[in-house]
Amino acid sequence: MKALIVAAPSDRPLAEHVAAHLDAELARVEVRAFPDEETYVRIDSEVADRHVIIVANLVRPNARILPALFLAETARELSPASIGLATPYLPYMRQDARFEPGEGLTSQYFGSLISRSFDWLVTIDPHLHRYQSLDECYAIPSKVAESAGPIARWIAENVERPLVVGPDEESFQWVSAVAQRAGLPSVIMDKIRHGDRDVQVTGAGLPPWTDQTPVILDDIISTGRTMVETVRLLREAGLKPPVCVGVHALFVGDAYQILRGAGVERVVTCNTVSHLSNEIDVIGELARGIGELIAL
Ligand code: R5P
Repeated sequence: MKALIVAAPSDRPLAEHVAAHLDAELARVEVRAFPDEETYVRIDSEVADRHVIIVANLVRPNARILPALFLAETARELSPASIGLATPYLPYMRQDARFEPGEGLTSQYFGSLISRSFDWLVTIDPHLHRYQSLDECYAIPSKVAESAGPIARWIAENVERPLVVGPDEESFQWVSAVAQRAGLPSVIMDKIRHGDRDVQVTGAGLPPWTDQTPVILDDIISTGRTMVETVRLLREAGLKPPVCVGVHALFVGDAYQILRGAGVERVVTCNTVSHLSNEIDVIGELARGIGELIAL
């Protein structure tokens, strides 16, 4: 029996995109708000003995998590073979340590919440920094799909003489994966974060690569401060206007406009989070991860 894709509210286009890559059926689903803003959920498709793939992008998660959990619980009562969560962006990964006494370790709490209602999880490039693997905060099997292949292809097709630049030590994993695939030089900067919107990027001994086009690559662009400060550093060092590539285009407030005005050549992102800068399609990687996890 074909797997069943259940779309969370507002994620129907994403679910259709995933379905186009898999031999799976899209479920008839109704999710709506009652007048008092509580949520009504109905899955009007055959669920018994089928793998259920709940496609719910949990970016800006607080309003999205409850409908996703309700869909999972509703499916659970209909005797599925398994229930999985497919979210291109996995939130709450950045609070991966207690930096001050009394802070909540929200990465753990969120992982526990998801692990109680789902049997498996597939996502794209989660922010694994102090955690080596999702197993450290999720109690269910997970699959991490990677954007490195599509990003490396995009750079090869669109940028002349690229130099891949990581703004901080966390970015090394994504920068090295892309640079290796595309056979490109790379360099990693240092970042100190003083606050949510206050970062300092330094890069002692930047090579004099004035012929190359820098491609600044990071997993998340949120306030954009990390990108803006890295652009400033590269321009001050005499490098060309960089291309900025982000995996997850969070772009809070006017971050995108500020980055566009910071002296960049181009700002490009993957389509894990819908944004006008999306140029790199990675949903096929997510679908492949789902297929591998449930052996479709
Ligand atoms: C954290 O280190 C991530 O890899 C990103 O560098 C960070 O989330 C970017 O945040 P912002 O755009 O707010 O500087």
